[in-house]
Amino acid sequence: YTVDVADAELPALTLDEARAEAERLTEKILGAREAYYGGDVGLVDDATYDAWMHQLEAIERAHPELQGQDSPTQTVGAAESSMFAPVEHAERMLSLDNVFSPDELREWCTKAEASAGRPVQWLTELKIDGLAISLRYENGVLTSAATRGDGRIGEDVTVNAVRVAGIPERLSGDGHPAIVEVRGEVFIPVAAFEELNALQARLRERVIADAAARPRYDEEKAQKSAARRFPAFANPRNAASGGLRQQLDKKSGLELEAGEARLASLRMYVHGIGAWPDPPVAAQSEVYGLLAEWGLPVSPYPRTFDDVDGVLAFVAEYGEKRHSVAHELDGIVVKVDELSLHDELGMTSRAPRWAIAYKYPPEEVQTRLLDIIVSVGRTGRATPYAQMAPALVAGSVVRQATLHNQDVVKAKGVLIGDMIVLRKAGDVIPEVLGPVAELRDGSERAFVMPTTCPECGSTLAPAKEGDIDLRCPNTRGCPAQVRGRVEHIGSRGALDIEALGEVTAAALTQPLAPQDPALETEAGLFDLTLDQLVPIEVIVRDSETGEARRDEATGEVIRRAPFRRNPSPAEKKDGLTGPQPSAQAVTLIEELEKAKTKDLWRFLVALNIRHVGPVAARALAQYFGSLDAIRAATRDELAAVDGVGGIIADALQDWFALDWHVDIVERWVAAGARLSIPGHPGPGAAAAAGGVLEGLTVVATGSLEGYTRE
Ligand code: IVH
Repeated sequence: YTVDVADAELPALTLDEARAEAERLTEKILGAREAYYGGDVGLVDDATYDAWMHQLEAIERAHPELQGQDSPTQTVGAAESSMFAPVEHAERMLSLDNVFSPDELREWCTKAEASAGRPVQWLTELKIDGLAISLRYENGVLTSAATRGDGRIGEDVTVNAVRVAGIPERLSGDGHPAIVEVRGEVFIPVAAFEELNALQARLRERVIADAAARPRYDEEKAQKSAARRFPAFANPRNAASGGLRQQLDKKSGLELEAGEARLASLRMYVHGIGAWPDPPVAAQSEVYGLLAEWGLPVSPYPRTFDDVDGVLAFVAEYGEKRHSVAHELDGIVVKVDELSLHDELGMTSRAPRWAIAYKYPPEEVQTRLLDIIVSVGRTGRATPYAQMAPALVAGSVVRQATLHNQDVVKAKGVLIGDMIVLRKAGDVIPEVLGPVAELRDGSERAFVMPTTCPECGSTLAPAKEGDIDLRCPNTRGCPAQVRGRVEHIGSRGALDIEALGEVTAAALTQPLAPQDPALETEAGLFDLTLDQLVPIEVIVRDSETGEARRDEATGEVIRRAPFRRNPSPAEKKDGLTGPQPSAQAVTLIEELEKAKTKDLWRFLVALNIRHVGPVAARALAQYFGSLDAIRAATRDELAAVDGVGGIIADALQDWFALDWHVDIVERWVAAGARLSIPGHPGPGAAAAAGGVLEGLTVVATGSLEGYTRE
């Protein structure tokens, strides 16, 4: 029974069904783990265990909100052998049940109050995204520190825990109980995490520099070794988990330096107590007061509320400011404050009934980095893109994300084949955060930036010395660049030709059939005729990445024949055979005809001149009145126009200096395009005439009924 984790076929479960199924699998997996640790019943063979794990992983991939920190997919299982000695917790380390909406939370609170038989005082805390730890103090002295493990047996990480800032080896004050288990969360603050990753990057560079100084230097090998030894950490939680569970005594040299830094970045906040027969206080909030007196680190965020509205307001407040807290949080933990009610309410098999975790929507998921491909955009820039196994993140399925340039790939430390962590920056643009280096098996390979353009084979080079970005210098003929420019011409900010979108641009410049494209460059755009459009078939490409688009459901490359239709039976009877122009082809020709008399500024934008967007184009058009006048102007005349300046003036002059650019203008004019403002009195004249809005800067905000932003 093997399941390809990345693409496991899942029946489409509703969230409720998926949750029930995940709970069922979790129960089985945890039972199997317990059995493995010495229980006598429930031992299962490895294949069954693996199949359960894969099914759970597949469910969590489809419904990331179901993946708790304590999910078997996230915790150390019995099947994974630990380098640390086992420690049995005096009292089980439970996990928390989750709710995902304010309504569910209110319902849970109401039920808890009903069970308690009276109104409850609530304690709200941030749910720290780290790993749980249990510190056992006997008469005020730390005797062991253990990870959660399977809840009953954890790993003994005392050697490392005593070096975590804030964890005391001896409690201050007096009157300490004979035994108390202090529970808390070990984490890395966001700022320290960033420093840690910067250090990893410096160490990777050192490894590569050292390798480069030796004979028989192999760049790819050096990069791979650097990424393996000092990976970028994907998120603070992974880094904290590995940081607490490392064997520093087995490390030396640079590895030791990195390990020490990782340990030094760890912090802890307490969030509860385990075995403590007779606590001298009546509420969880008071427990924190006492633990603070003993010198234990207590979070500054917990608050108490008399009613559920206060709790919900707290949840909403931190939903807004979760990114301004010093550590990562993935939700809010709501607890009944009175300790006497903890006993009364009791617990289920895995979680207390007196506490619940409200989970914010997930922002990060893990998926497989299948490949890094390089594609060339409209300006010739060669951009590496991550191609990933489809992953649902912040509400949509993501398959690719930009990696910007070869330096960013290096800085992120990802290898092809890695499990990676992915998030949506600002909840819109997918971003690769880094590898989950612990999951590497040695089959991963380093990315090597190609030296030639993947679409036309020209040698890639920086536009000028010192630029990081590599570009394809074949501006005129590179199919990727022509396709991008033609699409740009049709865009809303340029000639706004609705029929000229990404599919059409690809069909005109890079058809699957026929072999000769209708357009070699944009110069011929206004010369197109209907009969040129008939036989075109095309692969649909992403306008940003140039990658072939795939059907979301089937994953197949999308092919279309935008300009072709088969003759109807009636037409066939009339003797019509072979493909016929589609309505879309007819519309394109009509819209191109109409576009010939659009505003001059739109043509200026459509020419793809660097830095010339709608604002500069309007200023130039308004001042000069015609493309000829713009072309004839000196650099100083151009630069002096309000809203233009030296950089745009240079870009314009550089653009007109190329013959094939001038050819575009001439062919467009010959085809009937009007590159002037009718009745314009000539350069500068309009400005001299003045107007009611002359000299004013107008800022428009909000929205206007019936108008889009464009
Ligand atoms: S109370 C009886 N409070 O979240 C359970 N847990 O998903 C006691 N966590 O295993 C847990 N912040 O490791 C509690 N303020 C907080 C927490 C917190 C993070 C972790 C904890 C727990 C996991 C459950």
